[in-house]
Amino acid sequence: MKVWSIDTSAVSLAQKGSEQLHVLLEPAGILQSGGLVAFPTETVYGLGADATSQSAVQSIFAAKGRPGDNPLIVHIASAADIARVTAPGFVPSPAMQRAMAAFWPGPLTIIVPVHESIAPAVHPELDTIGVRVPNHRVAQALIALAGCPLAAPSANRSGRPSPTTAEDVLTDFAGEDVVAGVVDAGPCDFGIESTVVAFEDQRVVIYRPGGVTKSAIEAAVGLPVVFDTHLTDGHSVPKSPGMKYRHYAPTAQVDVWWGQLDGISRGICSFIEAKKLSHRAPRFALMAPAKMQTPAQVDWRWQPERSDEPYDIALSRDLYRMLRQFDKVGATHIAIVGVHPESDIGAAVMNRLQKASEGRIHQVGSSE
Ligand code: TXA
Ligand code: MG
Repeated sequence: MKVWSIDTSAVSLAQKGSEQLHVLLEPAGILQSGGLVAFPTETVYGLGADATSQSAVQSIFAAKGRPGDNPLIVHIASAADIARVTAPGFVPSPAMQRAMAAFWPGPLTIIVPVHESIAPAVHPELDTIGVRVPNHRVAQALIALAGCPLAAPSANRSGRPSPTTAEDVLTDFAGEDVVAGVVDAGPCDFGIESTVVAFEDQRVVIYRPGGVTKSAIEAAVGLPVVFDTHLTDGHSVPKSPGMKYRHYAPTAQVDVWWGQLDGISRGICSFIEAKKLSHRAPRFALMAPAKMQTPAQVDWRWQPERSDEPYDIALSRDLYRMLRQFDKVGATHIAIVGVHPESDIGAAVMNRLQKASEGRIHQVGSSE
């Protein structure tokens, strides 16, 4: 696999002749001729292909080992390109237009009726696609240079945590000829995927919580915003097919605690004691706020790097990276202090933790 390194701060769509943009010519050409290229976005790295080429899109599914019924997100360089990917005559409602104005470019994926030029493999059994404008200059420049909308799921093998660095992509696809390479622009800002929403007559439904919060959408759009019921009841069939698969899972066993910090600390200590008795050679990793003490038996610990950074923001940005890291060093158990699932970014973080832990979420006392 090839690596094209690029300095994001030096890239601007206006600077077409710049040195940095030249780096993108080769990957853009590969995309044009039906190849696969991984590229950075503000959320996670995506595995891109020309969304209008059925064979290119099919090779994404093959490379990832992704179930064929799980639709892909289509990425466009700017909101002005929306008509290229939506059904002729489709006009976004005023509410949808307010969302586009407020969050594009950014981590909001909007479900829209699909244009016939988009390859069927992008939207299996659906007449809609999810579309978004990534808030990343390299992604925007690459899409513009390729000259086609890019279908791109997260650039991980199915079932692995999403990649937030180019190294993560290389870890999953090294030796895989079908992925031509990765554009490396350093780590992603958000670290968690986009929010997927559908606009109904009088409300907005969140199919997948993500980088844009429910309250932010409510404020910008002026309609009630609800979570798709399967997100809360855990039984019914999700509207966003991708949500039904086991996801984001490392090899180590993940357990999550949230609520009252002293109680969590005691809970994690007794958890460790119990595992030491039942497991032959347990090795523990911990993700917790700086103010929580580290139990003596913890082998690896993550906490926010900066004391002024909110815990939920730091956790969402570093979660996938640390899950991969802890796996690599050989942790058998990962204990994570979560956040209130109804807090702003908490909905997205706890949704991912729910999957990574396969439901091992322990609520402690009253929430903070
Ligand atoms: O932040 C992101 O969204 C990243 C970056 C690369 O843009 N992409 C990403 O793609 O997370 P992926 O394929 O891992 O997740 C796409 C999600 C899935 O849950 C899928 O089911 C849902 O979006 N989705 C796509 N098209 C849909 C549609 N037409 N209707 C309902 N859900 C859809
Ligand atoms: Mg994914």
